[in-house]
Amino acid sequence: MPRTTAPDVAAAKGVRKIVMLAAYDFTSARLAEAAGVDVILVGDSLAMVVLGHDDTLSVTMEEMLHHVRAVARGAGTSLVVADMPFMSYQASVEAAVANAGRFLKEGRAGAVKVEGGRAIVPQVRAMVSAGIPVLGHVGLTPQHVAALGGFKVQSKTAEAAAELVADAMALAEAGCFAVVLECIPAPVAAAVTRTVPIPTIGIGAGPDCDGQVLVFHDVLGLYDRMRPRFVKQFAELGKQAAAALTGYAEAVRNSDFPGAEHSFSMAPEAQAAFETLLTPDAGEKDRHDA
Ligand code: KIV
Repeated sequence: MPRTTAPDVAAAKGVRKIVMLAAYDFTSARLAEAAGVDVILVGDSLAMVVLGHDDTLSVTMEEMLHHVRAVARGAGTSLVVADMPFMSYQASVEAAVANAGRFLKEGRAGAVKVEGGRAIVPQVRAMVSAGIPVLGHVGLTPQHVAALGGFKVQSKTAEAAAELVADAMALAEAGCFAVVLECIPAPVAAAVTRTVPIPTIGIGAGPDCDGQVLVFHDVLGLYDRMRPRFVKQFAELGKQAAAALTGYAEAVRNSDFPGAEHSFSMAPEAQAAFETLLTPDAGEKDRHDA
Protein backbone atom coordinates (compact mmCIF):
# COMPACT_ATOMS: atom_id res chain seq x y z
CA MET A 1 0.00 0.00 0.00
CA PRO A 2 1.36 3.47 -0.83
CA ARG A 3 1.99 5.98 1.94
CA THR A 4 -0.95 8.28 2.76
CA THR A 5 -0.34 11.83 1.52
CA ALA A 6 -1.69 15.21 2.54
CA PRO A 7 -3.89 15.34 -0.63
CA ASP A 8 -5.32 11.91 0.34
CA VAL A 9 -6.32 13.37 3.72
CA ALA A 10 -7.85 16.45 2.08
CA ALA A 11 -9.84 14.21 -0.29
CA ALA A 12 -11.31 12.24 2.63
CA LYS A 13 -13.61 15.12 3.65
CA GLY A 14 -17.22 13.98 3.37
CA VAL A 15 -16.09 10.50 2.30
CA ARG A 16 -14.77 8.86 5.47
CA LYS A 17 -13.61 9.80 8.96
CA ILE A 18 -9.90 10.58 9.35
CA VAL A 19 -8.02 8.92 12.21
CA MET A 20 -5.05 10.81 13.61
CA LEU A 21 -2.89 9.87 16.59
CA ALA A 22 -0.14 11.84 18.30
CA ALA A 23 2.78 9.45 18.79
CA TYR A 24 6.43 10.09 19.44
CA ASP A 25 8.67 7.13 18.67
CA PHE A 26 9.39 4.16 16.40
CA THR A 27 7.50 1.52 18.39
CA SER A 28 4.34 3.58 18.87
CA ALA A 29 4.41 4.56 15.18
CA ARG A 30 4.53 0.88 14.21
CA LEU A 31 1.58 0.12 16.48
CA ALA A 32 -0.37 3.07 15.07
CA GLU A 33 0.24 2.06 11.48
CA ALA A 34 -0.71 -1.56 12.21
CA ALA A 35 -3.98 -0.25 13.70
CA GLY A 36 -4.75 1.58 10.43
CA VAL A 37 -4.19 5.13 11.70
CA ASP A 38 -4.20 7.53 8.72
CA VAL A 39 -2.03 10.28 10.19
CA ILE A 40 0.64 10.13 12.89
CA LEU A 41 1.25 13.53 14.40
CA VAL A 42 4.57 13.97 16.15
CA GLY A 43 2.97 16.51 18.46
CA ASP A 44 4.91 19.04 20.49
CA SER A 45 2.85 17.62 23.38
CA LEU A 46 5.85 15.29 23.63
CA ALA A 47 7.38 18.13 25.65
CA MET A 48 4.91 17.24 28.42
CA VAL A 49 4.23 13.54 27.84
CA VAL A 50 7.76 12.34 27.02
CA LEU A 51 10.06 15.06 28.37
CA GLY A 52 8.12 15.99 31.52
CA HIS A 53 7.77 19.76 30.95
CA ASP A 54 4.70 21.62 32.28
CA ASP A 55 3.77 22.95 28.84
CA THR A 56 4.90 22.68 25.21
CA LEU A 57 6.91 25.90 25.02
CA SER A 58 10.44 24.68 25.69
CA VAL A 59 10.74 21.82 23.20
CA THR A 60 13.34 22.62 20.52
CA MET A 61 13.67 22.00 16.77
CA GLU A 62 16.44 19.44 17.42
CA GLU A 63 14.32 17.54 19.97
CA MET A 64 11.34 17.51 17.61
CA LEU A 65 13.50 16.36 14.68
CA HIS A 66 14.89 13.50 16.78
CA HIS A 67 11.35 12.20 17.42
CA VAL A 68 10.09 12.87 13.89
CA ARG A 69 12.91 10.74 12.44
CA ALA A 70 12.08 7.88 14.81
CA VAL A 71 8.37 8.02 13.94
CA ALA A 72 9.09 8.23 10.20
CA ARG A 73 11.12 5.01 10.47
CA GLY A 74 8.12 3.19 12.00
CA ALA A 75 5.16 4.86 10.31
CA GLY A 76 4.94 2.63 7.23
CA THR A 77 2.03 3.88 5.13
CA SER A 78 0.70 6.45 7.64
CA LEU A 79 1.23 10.12 6.88
CA VAL A 80 3.71 11.66 9.34
CA VAL A 81 3.01 15.25 10.40
CA ALA A 82 5.68 17.14 12.35
CA ASP A 83 4.48 19.73 14.85
CA MET A 84 6.50 22.92 14.49
CA PRO A 85 7.71 23.97 17.96
CA PHE A 86 7.07 27.32 19.60
CA MET A 87 9.04 30.13 17.91
CA SER A 88 10.17 28.02 14.96
CA TYR A 89 7.65 29.79 12.65
CA GLN A 90 6.09 32.76 14.45
CA ALA A 91 8.99 35.22 14.14
CA SER A 92 9.35 35.31 10.35
CA VAL A 93 8.21 33.75 7.08
CA GLU A 94 11.84 32.84 6.30
CA ALA A 95 12.30 30.96 9.58
CA ALA A 96 8.98 29.17 9.03
CA VAL A 97 9.95 27.91 5.56
CA ALA A 98 13.49 26.95 6.61
CA ASN A 99 12.36 25.05 9.72
CA ALA A 100 9.41 23.36 8.00
CA GLY A 101 11.77 22.29 5.22
CA ARG A 102 14.02 20.59 7.78
CA PHE A 103 11.12 18.42 8.94
CA LEU A 104 10.57 17.11 5.40
CA LYS A 105 14.23 16.93 4.39
CA GLU A 106 15.92 15.70 7.58
CA GLY A 107 12.91 14.29 9.45
CA ARG A 108 11.23 12.56 6.48
CA ALA A 109 7.82 13.93 7.56
CA GLY A 110 5.10 14.35 4.94
CA ALA A 111 3.68 17.58 6.36
CA VAL A 112 3.98 20.08 9.22
CA LYS A 113 1.47 21.51 11.71
CA VAL A 114 1.35 25.10 12.98
CA GLU A 115 -0.85 26.77 15.60
CA GLY A 116 -2.75 29.97 14.88
CA GLY A 117 -5.23 31.55 12.47
CA ARG A 118 -5.10 34.72 10.40
CA ALA A 119 -1.92 35.89 12.18
CA ILE A 120 0.17 33.16 10.54
CA VAL A 121 -1.37 33.17 7.06
CA PRO A 122 1.84 34.65 5.48
CA GLN A 123 3.86 31.77 6.93
CA VAL A 124 1.32 29.17 5.74
CA ARG A 125 1.24 30.63 2.22
CA ALA A 126 5.05 30.62 1.99
CA MET A 127 5.37 27.04 3.25
CA VAL A 128 2.67 25.81 0.86
CA SER A 129 4.36 27.67 -2.02
CA ALA A 130 7.60 25.89 -1.13
CA GLY A 131 5.82 22.54 -1.53
CA ILE A 132 5.35 21.83 2.18
CA PRO A 133 1.87 20.52 3.12
CA VAL A 134 0.56 22.38 6.18
CA LEU A 135 -1.97 21.26 8.80
CA GLY A 136 -3.56 24.18 10.68
CA HIS A 137 -4.54 24.22 14.37
CA VAL A 138 -7.04 26.62 15.95
CA GLY A 139 -9.14 26.78 19.11
CA LEU A 140 -7.04 25.97 22.16
CA THR A 141 -3.52 26.45 20.83
CA PRO A 142 -1.20 25.27 23.63
CA GLN A 143 1.71 27.39 22.35
CA HIS A 144 -0.39 30.43 23.42
CA VAL A 145 -0.85 29.09 26.97
CA ALA A 146 0.83 32.11 28.55
CA ALA A 147 -1.49 34.53 26.73
CA LEU A 148 -4.59 32.37 27.24
CA GLY A 149 -3.90 31.99 30.97
CA GLY A 150 -4.05 28.19 30.94
CA PHE A 151 -5.41 25.24 28.98
CA LYS A 152 -9.04 26.37 28.68
CA VAL A 153 -11.99 25.72 26.38
CA GLN A 154 -12.03 28.41 23.65
CA SER A 155 -14.70 30.11 21.49
CA LYS A 156 -17.45 30.05 24.10
CA THR A 157 -19.05 33.32 23.02
CA ALA A 158 -20.79 33.99 19.69
CA GLU A 159 -18.17 36.60 18.76
CA ALA A 160 -15.23 34.33 19.60
CA ALA A 161 -16.85 31.47 17.69
CA ALA A 162 -17.26 33.69 14.60
CA GLU A 163 -13.56 34.69 14.88
CA LEU A 164 -12.63 31.02 14.96
CA VAL A 165 -14.63 30.29 11.79
CA ALA A 166 -12.81 33.20 10.10
CA ASP A 167 -9.43 31.84 11.25
CA ALA A 168 -10.17 28.34 9.95
CA MET A 169 -11.39 29.74 6.64
CA ALA A 170 -8.24 31.89 6.29
CA LEU A 171 -6.08 28.80 6.84
CA ALA A 172 -8.04 26.89 4.18
CA GLU A 173 -7.65 29.78 1.74
CA ALA A 174 -3.92 29.95 2.50
CA GLY A 175 -3.58 26.32 1.43
CA CYS A 176 -3.76 24.16 4.59
CA PHE A 177 -4.83 20.63 3.67
CA ALA A 178 -6.75 20.17 6.96
CA VAL A 179 -7.19 21.92 10.30
CA VAL A 180 -7.13 20.70 13.91
CA LEU A 181 -9.87 22.09 16.15
CA GLU A 182 -8.89 21.80 19.82
CA CYS A 183 -11.10 22.27 22.86
CA ILE A 184 -14.04 24.22 21.47
CA PRO A 185 -17.79 23.69 21.93
CA ALA A 186 -19.19 20.95 19.68
CA PRO A 187 -21.66 23.27 17.86
CA VAL A 188 -18.79 25.61 16.92
CA ALA A 189 -16.74 22.70 15.55
CA ALA A 190 -19.78 21.50 13.59
CA ALA A 191 -20.19 24.97 12.07
CA VAL A 192 -16.50 25.14 11.10
CA THR A 193 -16.74 21.66 9.58
CA ARG A 194 -19.75 22.73 7.48
CA THR A 195 -18.10 25.97 6.43
CA VAL A 196 -14.51 25.16 5.48
CA PRO A 197 -13.67 23.12 2.37
CA ILE A 198 -10.86 21.21 4.14
CA PRO A 199 -11.20 18.40 6.73
CA THR A 200 -11.46 19.34 10.40
CA ILE A 201 -9.73 17.06 12.88
CA GLY A 202 -11.11 17.45 16.38
CA ILE A 203 -9.73 16.99 19.86
CA GLY A 204 -12.24 18.08 22.46
CA ALA A 205 -14.37 19.44 19.62
CA GLY A 206 -17.29 17.01 19.55
CA PRO A 207 -18.41 14.33 17.11
CA ASP A 208 -19.11 16.35 13.96
CA CYS A 209 -15.51 16.92 12.85
CA ASP A 210 -14.20 15.13 9.76
CA GLY A 211 -11.70 13.25 11.91
CA GLN A 212 -10.40 12.91 15.44
CA VAL A 213 -6.99 13.01 17.10
CA LEU A 214 -5.89 11.79 20.52
CA VAL A 215 -2.49 11.23 22.11
CA PHE A 216 -1.09 7.65 22.11
CA HIS A 217 -0.39 7.71 25.87
CA ASP A 218 -3.94 8.97 26.60
CA VAL A 219 -5.65 6.34 24.42
CA LEU A 220 -3.69 3.61 26.22
CA GLY A 221 -4.01 5.06 29.73
CA LEU A 222 -0.27 5.61 30.11
CA TYR A 223 -0.21 9.31 31.09
CA ASP A 224 -1.80 10.21 34.42
CA ARG A 225 -0.38 13.68 35.04
CA MET A 226 -3.29 15.43 33.33
CA ARG A 227 -6.55 13.95 32.05
CA PRO A 228 -8.71 16.41 30.12
CA ARG A 229 -12.42 15.68 29.80
CA PHE A 230 -12.08 14.97 26.06
CA VAL A 231 -9.74 12.02 26.59
CA LYS A 232 -11.20 8.54 26.31
CA GLN A 233 -8.88 5.82 27.59
CA PHE A 234 -9.35 2.72 25.46
CA ALA A 235 -7.10 0.69 27.79
CA GLU A 236 -5.48 1.02 31.22
CA LEU A 237 -1.95 0.02 30.27
CA GLY A 238 -0.47 2.30 32.93
CA LYS A 239 -1.89 0.03 35.64
CA GLN A 240 -0.68 -3.08 33.82
CA ALA A 241 2.75 -1.52 33.34
CA ALA A 242 3.03 -0.65 37.05
CA ALA A 243 2.07 -4.23 38.03
CA ALA A 244 4.55 -5.70 35.52
CA LEU A 245 7.41 -3.50 36.73
CA THR A 246 6.67 -4.34 40.38
CA GLY A 247 6.72 -8.02 39.42
CA TYR A 248 10.08 -7.58 37.69
CA ALA A 249 11.60 -5.80 40.69
CA GLU A 250 10.37 -8.51 43.06
CA ALA A 251 11.63 -11.32 40.81
CA VAL A 252 15.12 -9.78 40.69
CA ARG A 253 15.22 -9.29 44.46
CA ASN A 254 13.98 -12.86 45.10
CA SER A 255 16.43 -14.30 42.53
CA ASP A 256 13.44 -15.69 40.59
CA PHE A 257 14.68 -13.90 37.48
CA PRO A 258 16.52 -14.75 35.30
CA GLY A 259 15.74 -18.47 35.10
CA ALA A 260 17.55 -21.10 33.05
CA GLU A 261 15.30 -20.32 30.09
CA HIS A 262 16.63 -16.73 30.01
CA SER A 263 20.31 -17.74 30.38
CA PHE A 264 22.99 -19.06 28.00
CA SER A 265 24.92 -22.26 28.70
CA MET A 266 28.47 -23.34 27.78
CA ALA A 267 29.70 -26.73 26.49
CA PRO A 268 30.70 -28.78 29.62
CA GLU A 269 34.36 -29.17 28.45
CA ALA A 270 34.64 -25.44 27.79
CA GLN A 271 33.18 -24.69 31.18
CA ALA A 272 35.57 -27.11 32.94
CA ALA A 273 38.58 -25.61 31.12
CA PHE A 274 37.38 -22.12 31.97
CA GLU A 275 37.09 -23.01 35.68
CA THR A 276 40.64 -24.39 35.56
CA LEU A 277 41.87 -21.15 34.05
CA LEU A 278 40.19 -19.21 36.82
CA THR A 279 41.92 -21.34 39.50
CA PRO A 280 45.53 -21.86 38.21
CA ASP A 281 46.60 -23.22 41.63
CA ALA A 282 44.31 -26.20 41.08
CA GLY A 283 46.26 -27.03 37.86
CA GLU A 284 49.60 -26.75 39.73
CA LYS A 285 48.31 -29.12 42.43
CA ASP A 286 47.22 -31.69 39.79
CA ARG A 287 50.77 -31.70 38.29
CA HIS A 288 52.42 -32.15 41.73
CA ASP A 289 50.03 -34.96 42.60
CA ALA A 290 50.83 -36.82 39.34
O1 KIV B 1 0.87 18.33 20.23
C1 KIV B 1 -0.14 17.64 20.05
O2 KIV B 1 -0.22 16.47 20.44
C2 KIV B 1 -1.26 18.26 19.35
C3 KIV B 1 -2.54 17.51 19.26
C4 KIV B 1 -3.17 17.43 20.59
C5 KIV B 1 -3.44 18.04 18.23
O3 KIV B 1 -1.13 19.34 18.88
